[in-house]
Amino acid sequence: MKLGHKVAIITGSTRGIGYMIAKRFLQNGANVAICGSTLENALKAVENLKKEIDINPDQVLPFGIDMKDTQNIKNMVEQVISKWQKIDILINNAGITSNCSLLDSQDEDFYNMFEINLFGLLKITREVVRYMKDTGGSIINTSSMVGINGGKNQVAYAASKFAVNGVTKSLAKELGQYNIRVNAVAPGVVATDMMKNSVSEEMKQTLIHLTPLAKMATPEDLVGAYLYLASDEASFTTGTIIQVDGGLQL
Ligand SMILES: NC(=O)c1ccc[n+]([C@@H]2O[C@H](COP(=O)([O-])OP(=O)(O)OC[C@H]3O[C@@H](n4cnc5c(N)ncnc54)[C@H](OP(=O)(O)O)[C@@H]3O)[C@@H](O)[C@H]2O)c1
Repeated sequence: MKLGHKVAIITGSTRGIGYMIAKRFLQNGANVAICGSTLENALKAVENLKKEIDINPDQVLPFGIDMKDTQNIKNMVEQVISKWQKIDILINNAGITSNCSLLDSQDEDFYNMFEINLFGLLKITREVVRYMKDTGGSIINTSSMVGINGGKNQVAYAASKFAVNGVTKSLAKELGQYNIRVNAVAPGVVATDMMKNSVSEEMKQTLIHLTPLAKMATPEDLVGAYLYLASDEASFTTGTIIQVDGGLQL
């Protein structure tokens, strides 16, 4: 699916799912703002992308943005506009998870989760929509199966991802007037740093056993959904949450 010279901001694209989305978007002709929590991480990701695929140096811009920092987010969006004059695609993918029972949790855990997974997403979306409303575009939020069915010891994460689904549907209604489509992708379990740090080996085997397609997803398994939603092929698709989980939630 070709993305022509579309301009995409992809948060959380220094590693894992976001990195793979960035790689495939670049291969499909998009210009991409690569965002991590620090500029150092973003520069490293760009270096790796340049080693792995053939890209024009002008196709990428690295950014260190802390999703908690409103001014940081505003500056980044302004720099993207100043370089490429438009934003066609926003992928809200940066996120953190937790593996903590309610009784063991601290207030700070709740605030941190919502600052990054929800408020950061809302802040960057607001800044991007200021420009995107003049051209139309596609916003894709990374949700989770935990945002549909909940997760044991994941109450704060689940709450943040249920909220992301609510944001997706609400903004689809609000922004349709500007020809901005808003959708989400809800992965199951994906082999990334996040999963390594939060799911035990035993749990991993159980999840694979429960998955009809009988494996754990890699980031590559998810990219097709993002490519579709970002492309003009999805011109009448908005407000959907595409589950890409190998059938785990059936
Ligand atoms: N892996 C799974 O099984 C799974 C399942 C369902 C949903 N998801 C969702 O998929 C998305 C990506 O997850 P992943 O597995 O690819 O995670 P990951 O490998 O841990 O990567 C997380 C990304 O988010 C960025 N990030 C984290 N905190 C940030 C902050 N405060 N400010 C800015 N950027 C920040 C990281 O940047 P740095 O490199 O700079 O730290 C990194 O690029 C998340 O929204 C996650 O909830 C993942």
